Amino acid sequence: MNNTVLLCPPIHFDVTYSINPWMKGEPVNSELVMKQWFHMKNTLEFLGAKTKLIGQWPLLPDMVFTANAGTVHNNKVVLSNFKHVERKMERQVFKQWFDERGYKTFVLPEDMNFEGCGDTIVSGNQMIAGYGFRSDLKAIRRAAEILELNLLPLKLKNPNFYHLDTCFSLLREDFAIYYPGAFSKHTINKVKDIELLAVSEEEANRFACNSIVFQDHVLMPAGNEGLKFLLTERGFDVHLLDTSEFLKSGGSLQCMALWI
Ligand code: ARG
Repeated sequence: MNNTVLLCPPIHFDVTYSINPWMKGEPVNSELVMKQWFHMKNTLEFLGAKTKLIGQWPLLPDMVFTANAGTVHNNKVVLSNFKHVERKMERQVFKQWFDERGYKTFVLPEDMNFEGCGDTIVSGNQMIAGYGFRSDLKAIRRAAEILELNLLPLKLKNPNFYHLDTCFSLLREDFAIYYPGAFSKHTINKVKDIELLAVSEEEANRFACNSIVFQDHVLMPAGNEGLKFLLTERGFDVHLLDTSEFLKSGGSLQCMALWI
């Protein structure tokens, strides 16, 4: 199993523009930013994950959300084509990082929007992918082709849950939590062979689905004690971590971790 994760120390993290409904320009406490990020990193390492770091560029405050860099599978990386101009420069920085380390990187045609593991989950030979806000259907099709994976495309319908990883989390091959308000019935019914546990609107707004899954461990945004209890009963080890500062940017734990 993949146990190496790419993180970006948030030395230039801030909310200086707004490209999702959560980015309301609330001031960020930079001391807390560091504290919360190190808590995540230390927890991952304590649990046995290996961490790799990429340096953050000063004018790219959202680089901390490394999950958006691309989708990685078998040493291949399909790099993101960020939808918003504010993030487009990130691609070159991540490309160089992966190129220098021997990964085979792929750049999609410019007319395709794609935001990597914000919108994709690789499980076995399948890629579950969200589209509609940050990634296009044609882009996830192309990414699945390049990575030689079968695609399960899921259309996202709620702008508050603009990436798949804000509303769907695969905790085991055959078990996921999801927020029903982010999908039409027709869409979610396309998910077969995976047991689905619905989270409430409050849990979804606390980014409960934006959890990092590592073996039987689930690193989940704070405030979700009820869900922690349910998942503990099902054999998961749930660790609740405060990410208040990153939520001001519309991101939390899973957004900040890219399994490579
Ligand atoms: N401010 C960032 C954006 O809007 C947050 C990205 C969150 N990442 C994620 N994987 N959901 O792009």
